[in-house]
Amino acid sequence: MGNEYVEGNYAPVRTEHTVTELKATGRIPEYLDGRYVRNGPNPIADVDPDAYHWFMGDGMVHGVRIRDGRAEWYRNRWVRTSRMRMAAGEISRPPNHRAGVELYGANTNVIRHAGHDLALVEGGIASYELDHELDTMGPWDFGGTLPGGYTAHPKADPVTGELHAVTHYFGQGNRVRYSVIGTDGRARRTVDIQVPGMPMMHDFSLTEKYVVLYDLPVTFDARQAARIAVPRPLRPLRPAAALVLSALVGRVRVPDPIAAMVGARMRANENLPFRWNPRHQARIGLMPREGGSSDVRWFEVEPCYVFHTLNAHDAGDTVVLDVVRHPRMFVKDLHGPNEGTAALHRWTVHPAAGKVVEARLDDRPQEFPRVDDRVVGRPHRYGYAMGALTGAIPTDAVLKHDLRAGTVTSRALGRGKEAGEFVFVPSRPDAAEDEGVLMGFVYDATTGHSDLVLLDAATLETVATVGLPVRVPHGFHGNWLATGS
Ligand SMILES: [Fe+2]
Repeated sequence: MGNEYVEGNYAPVRTEHTVTELKATGRIPEYLDGRYVRNGPNPIADVDPDAYHWFMGDGMVHGVRIRDGRAEWYRNRWVRTSRMRMAAGEISRPPNHRAGVELYGANTNVIRHAGHDLALVEGGIASYELDHELDTMGPWDFGGTLPGGYTAHPKADPVTGELHAVTHYFGQGNRVRYSVIGTDGRARRTVDIQVPGMPMMHDFSLTEKYVVLYDLPVTFDARQAARIAVPRPLRPLRPAAALVLSALVGRVRVPDPIAAMVGARMRANENLPFRWNPRHQARIGLMPREGGSSDVRWFEVEPCYVFHTLNAHDAGDTVVLDVVRHPRMFVKDLHGPNEGTAALHRWTVHPAAGKVVEARLDDRPQEFPRVDDRVVGRPHRYGYAMGALTGAIPTDAVLKHDLRAGTVTSRALGRGKEAGEFVFVPSRPDAAEDEGVLMGFVYDATTGHSDLVLLDAATLETVATVGLPVRVPHGFHGNWLATGS
């Protein structure tokens, strides 16, 4: 069976570049002062195509510095674990297991919070702090206040600036952890929430009233984990290892040293230890923001999987959740997220009636939904997404949803182009919701290079294109890290 996640623009790049002579066409807005940085998997070693899962590649960040209407540099850097530093012959520091398992460099997102640039990932893997030129400074555990890994999809409350998150980790037993990181970069509140079965909670939603949990039927798979953790020469021990793991995971909290050991035995660039689980009931949980585990109310929904939420908000007594919904996940395709059409979906939760009303907002295949960060948890009019073939395989399209008008605008970037996630940046703090630019990396299969493309968020017309002399492999998430933020 082929593995498309090792081919074309999914294939890793082998070199770290610093490019200061960049050609731009169009006009880069003067209000942009900062860096666009995007994370994604880029295996440092050769991978076994039969085994490799896209989510398991070593992290590499790609960034473009913009100031005074010009692009000053492009850089790409691996996110370095101590293991990678040792392999590369660089000076290593002792592993900080408090920050999470150092399996591979955090590969999923990059954010800026409390003055720190953070490369993020989920599942108990350590996050890392980066410097302004994308070099890794070290593992990050929020000043020791949040050990054991974080998530790639925290939400910054636009009013308080605090960072809310839901974290899953197989070592936590039957629970996930909600946390609030203050504007000082330290956890001010954590809540352990009982959730049996170790579901993969890649994302969550935040409203003004609620923390919203997606307990969906992709769960930790002990057999898969044993295959990863036990090397091939010891294959006969895998069933026993799977038994031990399944006895531990979900029943007790795995002691940190054992969890760290199991995690360390797992190899980067291999299988993902999560699979579709038809016995796991799909449900949505609402927890009041200041509530505890016993305050969560659960609502059953049809089986599906959601990697990414567009946004959520309270509407009277109901809660509106806009998400990209996959019909199922990791049933047959164990190389990446590709099990049919992912489409924009709305769940309206009616707590008083104890039910959820499901509606399809847009049939077009799409992924990587984004909203204006200033309306996170509040009513939103617009949303943006990458057009997809199936799963998260990109097309050349960038989509703009007008959820008030019920319309969708699709911008085709051109033949041979393959889009990524596009991020909205407002032109000024009080700009209207679509007054600003969208930015993202676009691969051009005809040249083998990538561009940083800036679109007018109102019209989706191209504002500027920064040509890169290299390609940026398809990856996951990025953000505009404004200078001084
Ligand atoms: Fe994600």
